[in-house]
Amino acid sequence: MALWGGRFSQAADDRFKQFNDSLPFDYRLAEQDIIGSVAWSKALVTVNVLSAQEQAALEAALNELLAEVRSAPEAILSSDAEDIHSWVEQKLIGQVGDLGKKLHTGRSRNDQVATDLKLWCKGEVEVLLAAVRELQQALVLTAEQNQDAVMPGYTHLQRAQPVTFAHWSLAYVEMLARDESRLQDAFNRMNTSPLGAGALAGTAYPIDRDQLAGWLGFSAATRNSLDSVSDRDHVLELLSIASISMIHLSRFAEDMIFFNSGESGFIELSDRVTSGSSLMPQKKNPDALELIRGKCGRVQGALTGIMMTLKGLPLAYNKDMQEDKEGIFDALDTWLDCLHMAALVLDGIQVRRPRCQEAAQQGYANATELADYLVAKGIPFREAHHIVGAAVLGAIQQGKALEALSLETLKAFSPVIEEDVYPALSLASCLEKRCAKGGVAPSQVAFAIADAKGRLGM
Ligand code: ARG
Repeated sequence: MALWGGRFSQAADDRFKQFNDSLPFDYRLAEQDIIGSVAWSKALVTVNVLSAQEQAALEAALNELLAEVRSAPEAILSSDAEDIHSWVEQKLIGQVGDLGKKLHTGRSRNDQVATDLKLWCKGEVEVLLAAVRELQQALVLTAEQNQDAVMPGYTHLQRAQPVTFAHWSLAYVEMLARDESRLQDAFNRMNTSPLGAGALAGTAYPIDRDQLAGWLGFSAATRNSLDSVSDRDHVLELLSIASISMIHLSRFAEDMIFFNSGESGFIELSDRVTSGSSLMPQKKNPDALELIRGKCGRVQGALTGIMMTLKGLPLAYNKDMQEDKEGIFDALDTWLDCLHMAALVLDGIQVRRPRCQEAAQQGYANATELADYLVAKGIPFREAHHIVGAAVLGAIQQGKALEALSLETLKAFSPVIEEDVYPALSLASCLEKRCAKGGVAPSQVAFAIADAKGRLGM
């Protein structure tokens, strides 16, 4: 029976009931709903709605229910209750009889669902923070093991300047560190309790809402009841953080797919995270990475979906808001899976150093070095740039690398070029020169690894 049957003389149409019920997805809020209910029962004692004895009986029954849902959360799904709040109340009444009917005094499902979802989001932030840090740790380990793996860095997907595999890994550590900090910010902002906001205008019982908030682990109670029941900013924020992080992961995936391709062959992915083709026996496909890249779409979709749902909604609660759950559940599950999968992929990669080095040597990735060399000999950079452009063109015509041109040939482009140009064109020199903060010089990369290890407690 629905919680609100008294005013109705006809039963709900089955099709409407199915359309309206949220239990098939909000059963995931069972623990939060029970924990919130225990706190509420304690608040009801402070305003003399419940005696201490009654509260103790309710709390014991709720704790029993908590153990039940923890051991078999999906068992809830066999019920035809409208939503998780109705389910908990029904179960409670089933256990303690009429006393259970007192629990909803002064409370509404509107402040209840807002509280449950915030509690759930807070728990999820903790789990996600750990996963984001674990992936950073995996990337730092990869960096540590590949400081000597020189490979081409790209702009416009053209070989641009040599970098190292370590430096590439650390770029993703930076992105994830920002995701981590965004999660922490969002956590602090969502850390206020809506419980006691009632349906919209506040509870009619003089409950100390800050004390109640403290019992639930929130830092304070929310300040405005209308806002409390209609605020879903925490959902928007988490989905936006998830969307940004998934964009990072999709770029990571795309880089790795490219590095693993036959065309570059810089890495080989482990058999543990690849699959074969049903037709072409030679294939080993980067499915884990392609799925990470692909799943980015559904997370962006969840963000857009809830933004459109909330746009223009009048205050306060509207049933539209029930649509907040499936998107965030799916998106955060997806993000978590992808974080784990990215770490698993990293765990088994083999970096093919000779192939990386060979590629770094091709494509005139040291052209900037020649320009800097000319600058050191007193030629203004713009002029040097032009001279090197002509030298690269000449080298392409001869099918040679810059460092393979004879001194005589190089001198034809600029008479200031001497024998000392050759060491300046080496990969080692290209790397070492970039020793300002954040550069690819081995000393800087080693510093960045140590720094990241410190931040990540490694
Ligand atoms: N299942 C509802 C939701 O998820 C709970 C709140 C219902 N409130 C109401 N006034 N109908 O939003």
